[in-house]
Amino acid sequence: MKKNTQSQDLNALIKRLVETPGPSGSEHDIRAAVEDEIRPYCDEMRVDALGNLIARKGTKKAGGMRVMISAHIDEIGLMVTHVDDNGFARFISIGGVSPLTCLGGRVLFMDGTRGVIGLERLEPNTMPKLENLYVDTGATSKADCPVKVGDVAGFERPVLDLGKRIVAKSMDDRIAAVVAIEAMKAIKSTPHEVHFVFSVQEEVGIRGAITAAYGVDPEVGLAVDVTRTGDTPMSAKMAVALGDGPAIKVRDSSFMADSRVIAWMKAEAEASKIPYQMEVLEYGGTDGRAIQMTRAGVPAGCLSIPCRYIHTPSEMVDRDDLLGAIDLLTALLSEPIKLD
Ligand code: CO
Ligand code: ZN
Repeated sequence: MKKNTQSQDLNALIKRLVETPGPSGSEHDIRAAVEDEIRPYCDEMRVDALGNLIARKGTKKAGGMRVMISAHIDEIGLMVTHVDDNGFARFISIGGVSPLTCLGGRVLFMDGTRGVIGLERLEPNTMPKLENLYVDTGATSKADCPVKVGDVAGFERPVLDLGKRIVAKSMDDRIAAVVAIEAMKAIKSTPHEVHFVFSVQEEVGIRGAITAAYGVDPEVGLAVDVTRTGDTPMSAKMAVALGDGPAIKVRDSSFMADSRVIAWMKAEAEASKIPYQMEVLEYGGTDGRAIQMTRAGVPAGCLSIPCRYIHTPSEMVDRDDLLGAIDLLTALLSEPIKLD
């Protein structure tokens, strides 16, 4: 009975976080949603100048460290560059948006305006580019178009519960925000001063975590983010598979995870009997880079949630990987950290 209520609560949290729009630079609504969720579970909350939400739990006791955990709350989206005489809005991407995943898509602007994405007629056998696409808001002319230059939209798609697997837009990286929030709830006691950062502007170049890391000045840090998998037809050769557990990052194209942090994460997963996998990601980056490179340098790593179809409106994660990631992060933060 208790388990059922818990999973209903978890489903409701996932739904709330993935369905709240928040493309990079427009994180006010999603930040407010996270603030609302975490208020009872942290000791202090603040928002820095860039808009990162930073929540502290615990104070440093004997054997404790100042720890930064970072999950980004921004998502990919689009920004209007021009509205033509017939009221069609042209746009550029915010973050890594593929034109292929835009076709027929629906978008939600920050003011609640909705629209669909249309495509110009192309020469046969040509790949669409973003400049061939436009948003149709149902306007009949430029004068009655409800959106204007600079307006921002996120993709719109409700959560799809497939049982063991869950699908949504913005699993990158709201599912990591879910992991951070659930760990924050589950930690009973900690010797550490843990700063949970819900960072902004990751998708446009890991920007929010730069100022957050400088401000927190951590002694050790972890990003929590999604990673690709190598288990779909014709996918890149990669050892990560959906359902094989949370992944411990070894490297991506933004940073080399600290070997001491990797060892700490592996030892904790083994001690807590949480299945895990090692991740070597060819392309991609996370807030781990910003933590590692701040000030004079900080030991940093990344806890990854395997995810299929990243940066599409149908990003898929596995429920057991999610629960494993929550358990591993909770365990990592509940005991003294030995980095050697
Ligand atoms: Co991303
Ligand atoms: Zn991400």
